[in-house]
Parts: sequence; structure tokens; C-alpha cells
Amino acid sequence: MPATVPRGAPVRVLGRRRQRPAGSYRQSMQATDLPHSDSAVYPLGLRLAGRAVVVVGGGQVAQRRIPGLLAAGARVTVVSPWLRPALEGRVALGEMAWVARGYRSGDLAQAWYALAATDDPSVNAAVADEAEQHRVFCARADDASRSTAWTPASGRHDGVTIAVHADCDPRRAATVRDGVVEALRTGDLAAPRHRRRDPGVVLVGGGPGDPELITLAGRRALAEADVVIADRLAPAALLEELPPHVEVIDAAKLPRGRSATQAEINRLLVEHARAGNRVVRLKGGDPFVFGRGFEEVLACAEAGVPCTVVPGVTSAISVPELAGVPVTHRGVTHEMTVVSGHLPPGHPHSLVEWPALARLRGTLVLLMAVENLAAIAAALVGHGRAADTPVAVIHAGSTASERRVLATLSTVAEVVEREGIAAPATVVIGDVVAVAATAAGVSAALSTARV
Ligand SMILES: C[S@@+](CC[C@H](N)C(=O)[O-])C[C@H]1O[C@@H](n2cnc3c(N)ncnc32)[C@H](O)[C@@H]1O
Repeated sequence: MPATVPRGAPVRVLGRRRQRPAGSYRQSMQATDLPHSDSAVYPLGLRLAGRAVVVVGGGQVAQRRIPGLLAAGARVTVVSPWLRPALEGRVALGEMAWVARGYRSGDLAQAWYALAATDDPSVNAAVADEAEQHRVFCARADDASRSTAWTPASGRHDGVTIAVHADCDPRRAATVRDGVVEALRTGDLAAPRHRRRDPGVVLVGGGPGDPELITLAGRRALAEADVVIADRLAPAALLEELPPHVEVIDAAKLPRGRSATQAEINRLLVEHARAGNRVVRLKGGDPFVFGRGFEEVLACAEAGVPCTVVPGVTSAISVPELAGVPVTHRGVTHEMTVVSGHLPPGHPHSLVEWPALARLRGTLVLLMAVENLAAIAAALVGHGRAADTPVAVIHAGSTASERRVLATLSTVAEVVEREGIAAPATVVIGDVVAVAATAAGVSAALSTARV
């Protein structure tokens, strides 16, 4: 089944050109005469959205190239008797078509661009010949000198596409590409936007504290910000990188200390966005995990201010993970429950069913629980969880101040008190802690160890 995108007006132009009898131009420039040097490359950005692209071959090259073609919106048909499982998965999802047989002449009939990527040079040559005949640009994976199109080393950052050719030296091209992309990411290479940006609010999850653990989308939002309203647990190092013109507002909510009220934060978000600014609300972890992020989304919606959300790496999973504790482990737990411990069991405003949690066998992850740990541990044991259930408490995970202690439900309150573990801390309760401790060779000292 060949790709079936009907060609529009521009194609008719190509069609006319096809009817032109081969003249001196074509005779003097056959594929075999193509100059094999980047100096002869004419860089171009193909706009493939909705256009048919045929990939012949279903192996490694196809696996590497097809995601980029799909990202460009191309209607990809892959022709191959077999496909790598990753590609089969894309076919199953309806992302592309698969002609499950070997290449046949005519398969490129509708193609705007073709990729000859089998491991048989004679098949690749046949594909390239058909492409040449129909004046379809074709990249031949096995022989650059016989390709009419070369794939550059490419990368993207913040709306900038970098495509590098380096005299047929792919590693050199990739090195240059990596250098430019990295420089754009770090800000060493400035790429300021000169077109107007829309004002609005972006809620960004900053991750657990290590500035490396924010997402690329989060970093990009920060790079475009005019105003940043930052929480106490947001990665502080990211604020140091902001250019001087960016206004940083401290919305630190210090426990029992100075704190901006949620109403005040909502007001600031709306006010600065309405003044025409790109406002980033930088939070620790993920904005929607005990982060009051959705309240801010609603406040923006009520005020008619556009608001988008960039998810973050939540401390509930990443902090234990970085400390070597998997929150799930095959054969050990089939559930993981994240609970806020900011109110003690029995508190009239608590929404947590501690007796029900005590009956669970799996992993409990507690956030904001340090102050109430004694009461929580007692409630869990009192309602049936074993007193020797292993517990890990990790303070300031992923930062230079990180500290970890191991204990059991019966000892955790005393261990935390003795070791002076304070907020912010993530508490992991369950057998996964013993798995991790055993792997680290500290199981014997589980009740008191500092690791
Ligand atoms: C208000 S909640 C916000 C959680 C955040 N939205 C997230 O997804 O990680 C704050 C609590 O998260 C936990 N927490 C956040 N960052 C942490 C870190 N670096 N190390 C340990 N716990 C952390 C602590 O329990 C802290 O009291």
C-alpha cells in the first residue's frame, strides 16, 4: 500500500517539471556525479506536515529517523517485511502505516521524501533510483555519496532548530550540535526572542531541589520569564541563573514563620500577568502534589489570565529514589500511597483514614510529616501495622544538605528526634525500605542507622 496523500497545487508544479524531457542539465548532473562535500549542500527546512514520506526498511535507522519525521507531522509509510518492536508499537497506535513486505518499484509514487534504510545495498540503490527518477529527495542510509538529501545532526531548544552538516563527518556534526544546544540551554549562547510574547502565568514544578532535576520545559519557561514567584522549596540555584531584569518575588511559606498567604500569591500572579508579563510560579516538586497548584490555576481562570502547567519531579518519589529506596519493587509491594502528614491522626480537619492506611501492606510515603511522626507511627501501629515495619526518613533530598536515617515504626520518632531531622523531609514506610537497606548492606542496623 503506497502512501496516499494527494498532492496539492505545489505538486502540480512538480508534475510539470517531471514532464520536461531530460535535457543537458540532467545529463550533466546525474546522481553518480553528486559532489560529496558539505560545501555543496543547500540547507533547507522541509515542511512535511501532512505530506507522505516513505521509509524503506524497519531496522535501527528507521527507528532513529521516524520519530523526527512524525514530530514534523509527516504521513509516514514504512515498507519492510519486519519492524523493530518500537516501530510496530507506533503502527499499532496508528501513528504511521506499515506495508509488510519488501520494497517494490512504485512504492514512492506519492512520496515527497524517501529514506532508503534497508541492510541490502541493492534494495537501497533501487529505492534511490526510483526517487531520482521521480525527483523525490532520498536519503540513502548506506551510501551518502548516492543520496540526494543528507540528514543533519539536529537538535532543538526553545523554538530554535539547529541542523549541522560537517563535511560528511557525523560525529563532528553531532559534537557541534551538542555544543550549540548546550550553550543555548545554559544561556552561554543568547537567543532572545524578537517577536512579542504572550503574557500569562506558567506554573512550573521545579523538582526536589537539585537544579538538574527540573524539566526542559520548566527551564525554558524560566528563560522566558519577566517575573518569577518562587516557593521556599523551589530549587534556589535556578534563581541565581536568572538575568538581572527578571523580578524575583519570594513567596516562601516558612513553617511557623513569615509567609505569603495563598490569596496574596494569587493576587500577585494575576496582577503581574495583567501588566503584560510572563510570570513563572516556581514550585518545589510537582505543582499538583500538595502544592496548591490547582488553586492558582483556578485563580488565573477566574481572572481570565492564561495559565499553563509544567509538571515537575515530585519529592514523594524522587527523594526516596535518590536515597536508594524504590517506592515499588516487584514481589514486595503492589501499591504506593502518598499522604500528607501535616495534621496528626484524629485532628478534626484531617481527611486521612489512618486506620485504613494501617491495614495496607504496601509503601506509605509521608510528606510534611516530621512534626507529627510520633503520633502517625503510633496510629499506624495501633491500627495493625507491624511495629518493626522499616522506615526511611530523608531530609532535603537531592540537595547538599541531604540527610537520611533508617528506623522502624516503633523507633522512628525517637531516631528522628535524636538525629535532629527537621522539615523538609520525606518519610517512606514499608518493606521497600528493607529491600534498599539490604542491598546497601545495612539491614542489621535498620533500627538506628544513619546512612
Ligand atoms: C508542601 S509539600 C510540596 C510537595 C511538592 N509539591 C512535591 O511534589 O514534591 C512539601 C513537602 O514535600 C517534601 N519535600 C519537598 N522537597 C523535599 C526534599 N528535597 N527532601 C525531602 N522532602 C521534600 C517534604 O515533606 C515537604 O514538607
